Amino acid sequence: MLESKKIIVGVTGSIAAYKAVYLTRELLQRGAIVRISMTEAATQFVTSLTFASLSKHPVALSMYPDGTHESSGSWHIDWALWADAMVIAPASASTIAKMANGISDNALTVIATALRGKLFVAPAMDVDMYNYPALKRNLSTLRSFGVEIIPPGTGDLASGLVGEGRLAEPDEIVEELKAYFARSLSLRGKHVLITAGPTREPIDPVRYISNHSSGKMGYALAEEARDRGAHVTLVSGPTALELPSGVHVVSVVTAEEMASAVEVYCQGADIIIASAAVADFAPVASAEQKMKRRQMGADEMLIPLKPTQDILKAVGRSRRDEQLLVGFALETDNLIESAQAKLIEKKCDLIVANPAAEEGTGFGGETNRVTLVQADGKRELPLLTKRECAVEIFEAIDRLAQTKSQGVKTRHIN
Ligand code: CTP
Repeated sequence: MLESKKIIVGVTGSIAAYKAVYLTRELLQRGAIVRISMTEAATQFVTSLTFASLSKHPVALSMYPDGTHESSGSWHIDWALWADAMVIAPASASTIAKMANGISDNALTVIATALRGKLFVAPAMDVDMYNYPALKRNLSTLRSFGVEIIPPGTGDLASGLVGEGRLAEPDEIVEELKAYFARSLSLRGKHVLITAGPTREPIDPVRYISNHSSGKMGYALAEEARDRGAHVTLVSGPTALELPSGVHVVSVVTAEEMASAVEVYCQGADIIIASAAVADFAPVASAEQKMKRRQMGADEMLIPLKPTQDILKAVGRSRRDEQLLVGFALETDNLIESAQAKLIEKKCDLIVANPAAEEGTGFGGETNRVTLVQADGKRELPLLTKRECAVEIFEAIDRLAQTKSQGVKTRHIN
């Protein structure tokens, strides 16, 4: 799995820097091509000569010409583009804080912030430093950037204290990398269509009906699908989010526009995920001019509404058997029963059930607590970041795809 993979090991100032030597050796033994970048603090613990000898490549120590880098001032970009992945192990509290805040003031952090490949961070520090609130906050910021945190173990620490903070063992880090590269192949050649965000149904040129959807869950799914090698089309309603790179984004506003875009792309899609919070009703007509207060009745104003098209249901009706169809169900009550009903009604393979009224879940936030509902059962997941939820959803999709390819039918709804 690691054969010919280009991996940068970033080493920062920690007594655990010696474990990075073993990590480098393990990666090399599995056929990876390894380069090393060290902070100055790391060189207090292990010499760069050790790493240069092992990796047979100069170690990136300084941002400025020191005779190590053959190319110009943009050598860090060459490194960042070269790597399939980078793993900072051990990652000190200080490097984690820099990364979370975009501070790039040494060779290691300039490479890490310019990296196109996957970034892994394996923290190592004393137990009290590990429990310091800023460190926790910085780790969760990095997670929200899509960085994979490899958690430290618990045990004897160099200080003599006992607790959480020991760098994960080199073989555990290798397993994380292997799992990532296995995942990154899982959707190669597949076309994934995702709907995300809210829709807006105009009342007049300045007013609309919409909902609180931020689009974060759908964007996290798009990024995860991209990282697994899929060709991704993201049909997105209006959101404040940055467009994910490497994803084909089709921006829409209304439910009708979203339905048309989905119709264009759904035939060619292998996997269709409807995470959008589509408005269920739209004004029968949108006024051409801004509506005036005086047009309102004395006590109330009624806006006639018509139902929008149920996009997912339409896809369910026309889907091919080999396509995988995933819907969401955001509910304030009867979560699982409603999700099971939607699974059947919309002819889905999987419904991601999402409680709307629970802390840490639902619209806008970074986390979600979802239950995956399938014909053959349900699986409740703990509170996870939306990106972690996306990983779990694609793992479930992988399993469903395997079941399908083995000809086992879990869906008998027609
Ligand atoms: N959906 C859709 N088009 C709509 C409404 C919903 O494609 N017009 C999709 C959503 O993207 C989601 C699923 O259907 O994947 C369920 O959406 P939800 O709003 O939970 O349920 P509804 O079908 O709208 O039913 P209800 O409002 O009665 O719960």
